[in-house]
Amino acid sequence: MRVIPAVLCLLLCQIFSSYAQQAQPSVKNSPTIISTGKDDPWWQHAVIYEVYPRSFQDSNNDGIGDIKGIESRLQYLKDLGIDAIWITPMYPSPQVDFGYDISDYEAIDPQYGTMGDFDVLLKTANSLGIRVIMDIVLNHTSDQNPWFKESASSLNNPKRDWYIWRDGKNGSYPNNWQSWFGHSAWTLDPKTNQYYYHYFYTQQPDLNWRNPEVRKAMYGIMRYWLDKGVSGFRMDAVSRLFEDVELHDDPYLPGYNAFGDRNIQHKYTDDLPEVHDVFRELRKLADSYPNHPVLIAEADEPTIGDLSKMYGAQSDEVQLPMDFQIADVNELSAPRFRKLFAEVENNPAHGWPEYFFSNHDQVRQWERYGDGAHNAQIAKLMAVLELMPRGTPQMYYGEEIGMRTTEPARKEDVRDPIGITGWPKEKGRDGERTPMQWSPASPNAGFTSPSVTPWLPVPPNARTVNVETEKSDPNSLLNFYKALLRLRHTEPALLSGSYVTINPDDQHVFAFLRRLPAGSHGRDVLVALNMSSQSQTIQLRVPDAKHGSLRVKVLVSNYAVPMSSLDLDQTILPPFGAVVVAVE
Ligand code: GLC
Repeated sequence: MRVIPAVLCLLLCQIFSSYAQQAQPSVKNSPTIISTGKDDPWWQHAVIYEVYPRSFQDSNNDGIGDIKGIESRLQYLKDLGIDAIWITPMYPSPQVDFGYDISDYEAIDPQYGTMGDFDVLLKTANSLGIRVIMDIVLNHTSDQNPWFKESASSLNNPKRDWYIWRDGKNGSYPNNWQSWFGHSAWTLDPKTNQYYYHYFYTQQPDLNWRNPEVRKAMYGIMRYWLDKGVSGFRMDAVSRLFEDVELHDDPYLPGYNAFGDRNIQHKYTDDLPEVHDVFRELRKLADSYPNHPVLIAEADEPTIGDLSKMYGAQSDEVQLPMDFQIADVNELSAPRFRKLFAEVENNPAHGWPEYFFSNHDQVRQWERYGDGAHNAQIAKLMAVLELMPRGTPQMYYGEEIGMRTTEPARKEDVRDPIGITGWPKEKGRDGERTPMQWSPASPNAGFTSPSVTPWLPVPPNARTVNVETEKSDPNSLLNFYKALLRLRHTEPALLSGSYVTINPDDQHVFAFLRRLPAGSHGRDVLVALNMSSQSQTIQLRVPDAKHGSLRVKVLVSNYAVPMSSLDLDQTILPPFGAVVVAVE
């Protein structure tokens, strides 16, 4: 890049920053939920937003977020451009795993409110055009669930076979299977002298999905929520529903994990073929409802081939398996993103992609993709990467304002049990679950009353990183997200255009086109992302187009770019520059 004298640079920056503002439409968002039937369902056009209820908004000043709190923020989500919220579990639970240990699947935990509150939330959300997606934990229950209590009560209890019980071997565990959360996956029940299996915490015994009564009970629960009008489920840990009946030992891998256990491949407890029978049954159930409920699978699959199987050979299984491979690239690499997006685009099942970068289980994208020097710029680039490809994007609360991961400083502050077992190597997931930062108000950022101690501390940066402050800054990340979300809902090429990779060999710039079908009216949308810390000059090669004859208009960019003068033959992208351009 040419070196520009400081004064000139200042002047140009001022001019450009006004262009950049123009490049972000200021019109109010008006998200539309488009539902045109089975072949073009609403969830293909929806933007999903994950709400972690403990941390979103506290309405009764007990330091824990709740349903009424979520309800009070629906208008914010509507203005942002959200079409559906996925709420992590709010069912009664001992909260060992903060809701993922359910003791009653057809009720609401009193700390979050009442069923009446939930009904009001659902109604209000729907009246705003926001759908509600429940989180359903099919793999396991809480050990305080009456089913497990019955099952554990005697060897011949009718519910004994609802869970996985086995005798020990040579005075020890039945085999070497390990819990995802550390140590053996078997716990001895002294009363009946058998071990029960738990893929996760000891307090989360796995259900036996080979037992038809378990399936019937779970499907009944799902109907209960669908009858209320929810729009689908995010299905927790579903690849783990079945385990090898012969209890083969899992193979060991080199090294040790944060809990001090030998690394292991979960070969006999993950992705067993029977899971597809369940997916088909679940899909039939979902398809029997007129509002086209969606099934989203937590699918941290090792390859796109494995992920693709979740759609089903006849597209009769899960509509949206979450793409963890794209979420976890964990470096800004144009070749890697290009390859992975191409793979999911060409998945053998022709399934619809679902993208995300952050959730309640992993370090936020701010740290995983930021380079420490350009994080604010990179956060905008990541927003473009998440929201512009073909597929359903899923956001995590707070990513739109650039919330950081704030890990506990001391072991005694940790709330997530794996952070206690794994300290200091594994500090748990508290860091990405801190309260939503609504306002600069000290000390609790509008999450709860200032006099209350929230369940997790509000990060100190809330004074500057918060909704209220960012709302009034035209160049904020929040307003950038709004601009992108508005585009997603209004630009035909982004709603229904295909995805075409361009400049396939570029090492630094990841670029693609959202292309309308030939003959249709409207314009294509070109997206270019400089994933390097150096400025890049690139010829953006739009296929089948005669360059020079194209009309080009910058729609959104994360840098100051003069709208009229972007030259596709010689586009200069600054470090981590991202631009969305209409071409016709
Ligand atoms: C899923 C959830 C995670 C939970 C685990 C056990 O991975 O996302 O938060 O701890 O399942 O239910």
